[in-house]
Amino acid sequence: MIHSTKPIDDATPLDDISGLKLPSDKVYSLKEIYVAEANNIAQATIKYLSAPPSKKVAPFSYEWLSELHKEMFGNVWDWGGKFRQVELSIGIKAYQVPIALKELADDIEFWDKHKTFDVYETATRIHHKAVQIHPFQNGNGRWSRMLANIYLRQNGSMPVKWQEDMLSKENPHRDEYIQALKAADNGDYSNLVQMHRNTF
Ligand SMILES: Nc1ncnc2c1ncn2[C@@H]1O[C@H](COP(=O)(O)OP(=O)(O)OP(=O)(O)O)[C@@H](O)[C@H]1O
Ligand SMILES: [Mg+2]
Repeated sequence: MIHSTKPIDDATPLDDISGLKLPSDKVYSLKEIYVAEANNIAQATIKYLSAPPSKKVAPFSYEWLSELHKEMFGNVWDWGGKFRQVELSIGIKAYQVPIALKELADDIEFWDKHKTFDVYETATRIHHKAVQIHPFQNGNGRWSRMLANIYLRQNGSMPVKWQEDMLSKENPHRDEYIQALKAADNGDYSNLVQMHRNTF
């Protein structure tokens, strides 16, 4: 049985299973769906994080930003890689998503080229901006953390082990993480940068 809405603070409740692409000959529990998502995401992890990805493999271009989300969620959900059409409590207005994501791609290119920030702060800013835009119906947190990790890996640092049960309220780092994102909303990146330095 699908338990309708799972109320999780600061996370998208999983109350809409209409885009589920798993075989329809059975009913899936939330846990089974999370496992399917994790298996899908594992493919992206292997592709991008097992060795430093080249700029050809991970170009951080506008097109690739949503392609990555599709690679992470597209086996399980038909909204993988597709911009949301609805307003959420987190994120900018849906109609502004494409332009904001283009700006992010341009920012990344600029930061990377001019070494505006060190590797950790660049990864942090990518992560924060991506999740602030919240381009997709769901999976924005996991996608934005993956983006930051790919940037770290591409630039000689190891990816952060985020413990992808960030969703769960029981994760002791969850509050710390959300507080660091909120501080970054106000221009204070220090705690979020610390998390990207693998001291978390
Ligand atoms: N106040 C906030 N400001 C900015 N971002 C937030 C805030 N609260 C939550 N977030 C981000 O939104 C994410 C939840 O969005 P979404 O449900 O689309 O992602 P997810 O990958 O499914 O979830 P999770 O990141 O919890 O695994 C959180 O992980 C966090 O990264
Ligand atoms: Mg979610």
